[in-house]
Amino acid sequence: MSRERLQEFLSPFILDFEDRLEKCLDRADQYDKVLWDAMSYSLMAGGKRLRPVFLMLTGLSLGQKEEKLMPFAMALEMIHTYSLIHDDLPAMDNDDYRRGKLTNHKVFGEATAILAGDGLLNLAAEVMADEAVSSSDLNAVKAMQIILHAAGPKGMIAGQTADMLAEERSLGAEGLAYIDHNKTGQLITAAFLAGGALAGADDETMKTLEKAGFAIGTAFQIQDDILDIEGSQEVLGKPIGSDEKNHKETFVSVYGLEKAKQTSRELSEQAIQDLSCLPGDYGVLIRELVSFLINRVR
Ligand code: IPE
Ligand code: IPE
Ligand code: MG
Ligand code: MG
Ligand code: MG
Repeated sequence: MSRERLQEFLSPFILDFEDRLEKCLDRADQYDKVLWDAMSYSLMAGGKRLRPVFLMLTGLSLGQKEEKLMPFAMALEMIHTYSLIHDDLPAMDNDDYRRGKLTNHKVFGEATAILAGDGLLNLAAEVMADEAVSSSDLNAVKAMQIILHAAGPKGMIAGQTADMLAEERSLGAEGLAYIDHNKTGQLITAAFLAGGALAGADDETMKTLEKAGFAIGTAFQIQDDILDIEGSQEVLGKPIGSDEKNHKETFVSVYGLEKAKQTSRELSEQAIQDLSCLPGDYGVLIRELVSFLINRVR
């Protein structure tokens, strides 16, 4: 499927999604206005919206309604955006550009950037809890559990911790796999699993979605490491050379570019096969999207 055709399918969804995101942020009084401005600055800066798209397409393919999926898609993007704001801080990767704009701390200062990240994380939990309470649906509670687990200290935050350790010493092949699995694989997998849970998917489907999610997440991070070397800041919207600057051990620095490209392709192809568990047009679309991402440039 061409980029144009995928965009034709996904654009209306992303417009609606961003409209709803914006509505979640329309609160501010004189003392906290800067917080909401900072949250909105990063959340509404664009980005590929990949995790919410994966969640929505998975849930829709398995028969759930858009309305029931949307709060979790929004929460996932809030959590992802918070992780980027904190990841860019001087104490972590110390980067100046994100999503084509100056990073949050460059515009609002470090204290507000930290608070904006905290704000997005907590707002995400609140949006999910509101939906779980108002729907009284145990599947909504399960989706919330999946997402909070993946984002937390047994998931993404554990991966970010190991990633910081890897600036100081080599963690070896196992350590590297741990980093990619957790810092990026967890949230991407949560998109598939939360979509599945909200649609009441059976255990076998959930297991397959988990396997595919981690393969896609690892492939995605390997590509991110490749783009940090071969990409362009103009297209990516963030600096290249960040990993080298931070002496970060990545899949590319350990195995080289060729092996990295081959591995990300193989993982993606395996995931596409596994995702044949998703029926109908939405299933086709999700497999096309994963296939399109193999050669992504941003
Ligand atoms: C960047 O994620 C951070 C990684 C986990 C590699 P994305 O590449 O999905 O960033 P956005 O959301 O499009 O800005
Ligand atoms: C970050 O990985 C993954 C997160 C959990 C935020 P990177 O540090 O490689 O992401 P980029 O390259 O800054 O987007
Ligand atoms: Mg980082
Ligand atoms: Mg970074
Ligand atoms: Mg990177």
